[in-house]
Amino acid sequence: MSIQIPRGTQDILPGTVEKWQYIEEKAKEICKLYNYKEIRTPMFEHTELFLRGVGDTTDIVQKEMYSFEDRGGRSITLRPEGTASAVRSFVENKLYGNPQQPTKLFYIGPMFRYERPQAGRFRQFVQFGVEALGSNDPSIDAEVIALAVDLYKSLGLKNLKVVINSLGDKESRDAHRQALVNHFKPRITEFCGDCQSRLEKNPLRILDCKKDRDHELMGTAPSILEYLNDDSKQYFDKVVKFLSDLGIQYEIDANLVRGLDYYYHTAFEIMSTSEGFGSITTLCGGGRYNGLVQEIGGPETPGIGFALSIERLLSAMEAENVSFPFEDKIDCYVVALGEEAKEASVKVLYDLRKAGIVAEKDYQNKKLKAQFKAADRLQASYTVVFGDDELNKGVVSVKTMETGEQEEVSFSELVTYISEKKSGER
Ligand code: HAM
Repeated sequence: MSIQIPRGTQDILPGTVEKWQYIEEKAKEICKLYNYKEIRTPMFEHTELFLRGVGDTTDIVQKEMYSFEDRGGRSITLRPEGTASAVRSFVENKLYGNPQQPTKLFYIGPMFRYERPQAGRFRQFVQFGVEALGSNDPSIDAEVIALAVDLYKSLGLKNLKVVINSLGDKESRDAHRQALVNHFKPRITEFCGDCQSRLEKNPLRILDCKKDRDHELMGTAPSILEYLNDDSKQYFDKVVKFLSDLGIQYEIDANLVRGLDYYYHTAFEIMSTSEGFGSITTLCGGGRYNGLVQEIGGPETPGIGFALSIERLLSAMEAENVSFPFEDKIDCYVVALGEEAKEASVKVLYDLRKAGIVAEKDYQNKKLKAQFKAADRLQASYTVVFGDDELNKGVVSVKTMETGEQEEVSFSELVTYISEKKSGER
């Protein structure tokens, strides 16, 4: 039996990969505008990083990590997300010492989670994420949300919803935590085993449980917004005011808790509201993670960021029938007839390409008609044709495919001729 691709992964083939490149370019362009710099960290890290960073009561750590022992006996994990790695690198490379703060980073790369594959959920997926480390200014919370929204809009998405919540500072979270314990404790035996163990360790996670989602106590659970102290309330008010100033519509959802443990204050998601998008509608998730840098061994440094997967972004574009503004065309197809001409075509192609002309030829000894067909299939703008006779005379025939116009051009002029045609100078 032939070997198949692992479940939850996908091949991105030519024809689709161009869409990925386009999205990645857009993401980079927007990061440039907002002055976020690219960081590339390894795809695997010491498991300990995610236990501490993501939180050991989260689904990601408990059920979804690809962890293994390497040949040196170390526990290694394929990164399930990018924030912990970015923060590790920030600490390890002492980026906090740079004069320019906050440190604004972005990354694009594969992440790995052992989840049940379904539409929009993969075991390997590519996240584009940004992290801003070193500022407690609510304007940067609004900035990262704006950056994500700008990316989606620049790609033509319209059916978006920004959902935001505040998880408050430590004091607010502790008060809320106690209220949650009081709320769930009397009936905790009605909940799944995970929730039972989360009750004391991390009751907030109960709100995120997929199994007990419909339990009646979920809907009546105390809302974090009621437990925000004055500082946290003021912070949240400023973030949403900035969003309004930027014309970004949002909904406040007190039940938005996110699936990772490191969040304080702002937590947000961006959803697709397109009909037929499927059951997983979250396109992007992020929030503020004051405390994480210290947890990972660095100096007290606040942080905020988000991540989104290109897979879900692409599905959202498909759901909204957004077209991609590029064509898969080549400039020039070289048809050579006869042995000498074929040999000469090797250098012709080389010269065309050196001049920045996308050129192709036949490599399978095809007949004339089949070569013309190939030129059509590749949507060549120009077809260059010559046989041994023309070669001896030093001329080629160039056909402009759009108009059908045909011209005889001398061999030595060919590259200039096509270049000028292409740039519209001729
Ligand atoms: P997350 O909510 O776990 O947050 O993931 C962020 C985004 O990654 C999701 O909204 C979704 O677009 C994508 N994603 C997650 N899991 C999958 C999957 N199995 N298949 C396809 N796409 C997926 C984080 O990862 C945080 N690090 C975000 C963050 C950055 N917070 C602060 N800074």
